[in-house]
Amino acid sequence: MDKLVIKGGRKLSGSVNASGSKNSSLPIIAATLLTGNGTFTLHNIPDLRDITTFTQLLNHLGAETTFADNTLRVSSNHVQSLQAPYELVKKMRASIYVLGPLLARFGHARVSLPGGCAFGPRPIDLHLMAMEKLGATITIETGFIDATAKEGKLRGAHIDFPVSSVGATGNALMAAALAEGTTTLSNAAAEPEIVTLCKFLIAMGVPIRGTGTTELEIDGVPSLAGIEFDNVFDRIEVGTLLAAAAITGGEITINRVEPQQMKTVLKKFTEAGCTITTTDNSITLKSPEKLLATDVTAKPYPAFPTDMQAQWIALMTQAEGISHITDKVYHERFNHIPELNRLGAHIEIRKNQALVHGQQPLSGTTVMSTDLRASASLVIAGLVAQGTTEVLRVYHLDRGYEKIEQKLQSLGADISREKYNEF
Ligand code: UD1
Repeated sequence: MDKLVIKGGRKLSGSVNASGSKNSSLPIIAATLLTGNGTFTLHNIPDLRDITTFTQLLNHLGAETTFADNTLRVSSNHVQSLQAPYELVKKMRASIYVLGPLLARFGHARVSLPGGCAFGPRPIDLHLMAMEKLGATITIETGFIDATAKEGKLRGAHIDFPVSSVGATGNALMAAALAEGTTTLSNAAAEPEIVTLCKFLIAMGVPIRGTGTTELEIDGVPSLAGIEFDNVFDRIEVGTLLAAAAITGGEITINRVEPQQMKTVLKKFTEAGCTITTTDNSITLKSPEKLLATDVTAKPYPAFPTDMQAQWIALMTQAEGISHITDKVYHERFNHIPELNRLGAHIEIRKNQALVHGQQPLSGTTVMSTDLRASASLVIAGLVAQGTTEVLRVYHLDRGYEKIEQKLQSLGADISREKYNEF
């Protein structure tokens, strides 16, 4: 296995390019399943483990894919299997994204139930509710979701989500694209990744109204065609790199971004004392003399993202004062806290809130990654910890951060990847 070895204490400086978004790549790759007509050329797709897993799933279904230089070419013309097996779904919960497009195009899909998750229960009831509203009959047996469209065709419907869900909104959008008639989604997710999926479907020929809002209206079409498309930047990677720079007292610029998509996060960096300057496609962060304790509450977009919560906690370990970090999306997403405390942080957990007592000196030790963003928070802490921090089980980080150690090295961090035997 791989571990990251970080020698803390170096200020980050310089500039890097943002990678393409992982969380928008997955639904747009899934959406290629909607058509048997043509090839897709998807640019700015990050070279990540999750993308490899997802293309393996598409290949298993019969799609043809090639990936080089961050461009993925997909043809789903010859899909013959409608079953997503446990071996692939268990590696990545987002595999559920194949449900909507397969059901809409073929009238049938079987997807293994995704199983548990490192940071608490992650139900899929809203995905299933949306498919049922669109006219699917769903049964769950032997660990599989079996979905069949009545008379082989989904029909437009009104779907009101009781909870805002990125994944369920994505699945509903894709399914509605080929459904007969119009579908309306209320309390839909408005995350930039969903906006990207809307733009992708619109470019494929699906009329969608309300893009970027929580009320979406989709006119189903009889058939769709392959397109060329540029994926959006990864706002969570960018937030992570900004936190990494801020904790070291550094100054960095990140290019190839759209700063208006990160307003809440950038505002929080400003509240914490950082100076943020933006252009149309870059963000520069200059650290303050002293970071200030800054509360955040993770909620659906445009609020602070749950995917930045762990990194923010790491940053707040070095801020003056006590900060309150609340997660209203995943109440139990705090696996990083015991590991951060092992580095010397003083963080208490109270229900879905972390209380971070700032300005604790951190000292390097061996810590364990438990999930993707938890791993990122440990790397951030390692950059400021005295001595050497070893972050084990880097495969979690590799799911979602493209060339992370190269990017940090280019900004001046002392970080390297090494092999180790776990047992
Ligand atoms: C996506 C992101 C993930 C991010 C999350 C929230 C991808 C691949 N993953 O995950 O990184 O942390 O959004 O921004 O894009 N819920 C239900 N029933 C459902 C589905 C969700 O109750 O059927 C709940 C969840 O438990 C959670 C909330 O809805 O409390 C939001 O989850 P959701 O937006 O669906 O997350 P994902 O799409 O799985």
